[in-house]
Amino acid sequence: MFYSEEIVEEVRTKNDIVDIVSERVRLQKRGGRYWGLCPFHNEKSPSFSVNGDLQVYHCFGCGAGGNVYTFVMNYENYSFPEAVKMLAERAGVTLPEAGESEEGRRKESRRAKLLAVNREAAKFFYYQLRTPQGETGYRYLKKRELTDETMQKFGLGFAGKNGARLIGYLRGKGFEDEVIQEAGLAGYSEKHGMVSQFWNRVMYPIQDIHNRVIGFGGRVMGDGEPKYLNSPETPVFDKRRNLYGLNYARRARSSNIILCEGYMDVIAMHQAGFTQAVASLGTAFTAEQAALLRRYADNVLLAYDSDGAGVKAALRGIGILREAGLTGKVINMQPYKDPDEFMKALGKEAFQERIDQAENSFFFEIRILEGQFHMEDPEEKTKFHREIARKLCGFSEEVERDNYLQAVADKYFIGVENLRKLVRSYAASTGLARQPERPRPAGRRKAEPEDKAKTAQRMLLTWIVNNPGLYGRIRKYISEQDFTEGVSRRVAERLFQELEQGTFNPAGIISMFGEEEEQREAAALFSAKLPGLETEAEKEKAFRDILLSVKKNSYEYYVARMGTDVTALSRAIEGKKALEELAKAHISLD
Ligand code: GTP
Ligand code: MN
Repeated sequence: MFYSEEIVEEVRTKNDIVDIVSERVRLQKRGGRYWGLCPFHNEKSPSFSVNGDLQVYHCFGCGAGGNVYTFVMNYENYSFPEAVKMLAERAGVTLPEAGESEEGRRKESRRAKLLAVNREAAKFFYYQLRTPQGETGYRYLKKRELTDETMQKFGLGFAGKNGARLIGYLRGKGFEDEVIQEAGLAGYSEKHGMVSQFWNRVMYPIQDIHNRVIGFGGRVMGDGEPKYLNSPETPVFDKRRNLYGLNYARRARSSNIILCEGYMDVIAMHQAGFTQAVASLGTAFTAEQAALLRRYADNVLLAYDSDGAGVKAALRGIGILREAGLTGKVINMQPYKDPDEFMKALGKEAFQERIDQAENSFFFEIRILEGQFHMEDPEEKTKFHREIARKLCGFSEEVERDNYLQAVADKYFIGVENLRKLVRSYAASTGLARQPERPRPAGRRKAEPEDKAKTAQRMLLTWIVNNPGLYGRIRKYISEQDFTEGVSRRVAERLFQELEQGTFNPAGIISMFGEEEEQREAAALFSAKLPGLETEAEKEKAFRDILLSVKKNSYEYYVARMGTDVTALSRAIEGKKALEELAKAHISLD
């Protein structure tokens, strides 16, 4: 652990998880918990829950979970020490100079070093652009009508023909060759030693939402291959989870986000005042990026190239946005190729008009589809109508589906009733009246015996943390030995110990686990769905059943191990005794 357990706990308790989450996710209170759309996977109805009493969160959809640290790490893309720092600052806690463990320091300093070396490199490129050696770069950007202010805002720079200078500069700043290489700023060969990655290119530093330089894109000036050279993925540069320009767009306070294809598009848009523009990082738009956008806007306007590849990318993007529960619209850039060219030719008022006229993504899809059929051929026309029906089935909500059905029927002169029939027959033939459910990572298979044991253990722990007073009544029947799975054993051990001492602190227990996977498992143990029961008698029976099930499972577990494990025999005997007593006992819940 990086900081002492005490300070980690102090910072945690001073940051209410409900506050931290609700600053980032819209939450609604329901039945003692807060609920919202999970920021870690795409969903349309809330399965993300935050428990203020326990200070933990858990998503019933994707299994994400943990305490306030886990949340901040995942949401802000922070390492653990970064999350501690941020939350400490927020709560006004002064952190001691990190008394870190050797390993923690190494791991952390690796990330920190990569960010630092990128920052220095960005500075170097930036100054280079503004020296005589950088003049070709500066002239190129000027020719593309960028102002000095814009170049400054995006930190644009230049990598000269003498790559050794960057390497010398970085070494002079104390960076080891290894770090320079890991950041993707240089390669190494026996023959040439350290070779700078970027050579004679204008440089676009890529920043994350916290304005940290995580990578670079380098563009040739004029024609040349490859047009863009991007940094490779590194521990700080995840191309699926970042968007170019988002550090500015998130503050644009616009009702929409404009998604472009290229860095240059983003820059041109911002220069024209459309500061809500972002672009993916030289790779196709991803579901992770859609989830990121959902934090800042409900509507996404696609400003993709108007050529064939751009249309294809737009169609793909629309699907991803829809999955993420975002409304997509498509901006028509014709007769220009991309936003950058459009802006230069027609200016911002004309672009604003195009924004206002942006086409609903469904109609865009249908219009593109139309182009693939020869409408004068009745056969083809029927196929086209069938395709429309198929697409309509993608709307899971009936009202929405019917609204689209009427609109599209109107637009393409199809009889509404005929189209409705087509939809019905298509839905019937494929069972596709509903949106296909996405497979869930856990809990969907038929329950295996092991799963059943796990579930019972999980329900028991959830029940106890929500009613800690119960522990005193069942402690004579149960111990941590009854929890047979790795994480639940450690959680039970600590939880029971704390309950014995009267220091009950579930969210603190989560901090015990170093790995994110374990933290989510631990949070899940406190967040089981308990049966919604009416009467006290029903509840008592349910609780007893769970207790018995845990006990019975552990008894069987030890019986199976009696041959190989000397302690198993005595555990099994104890277990049998406890089961017999439990059969006679009455456990009251209040
Ligand atoms: P300009 O051509 O300068 O206007 O740049 P642009 O940003 O408009 O680029 P374009 O529309 O051609 O491409 C869109 C994005 O794809 C770029 O911003 C890059 O992220 C990426 N890209 C383009 N060409 C290459 C390439 O040759 N290699 C890699 N790795 N990515 C590229
Ligand atoms: Mn372009």
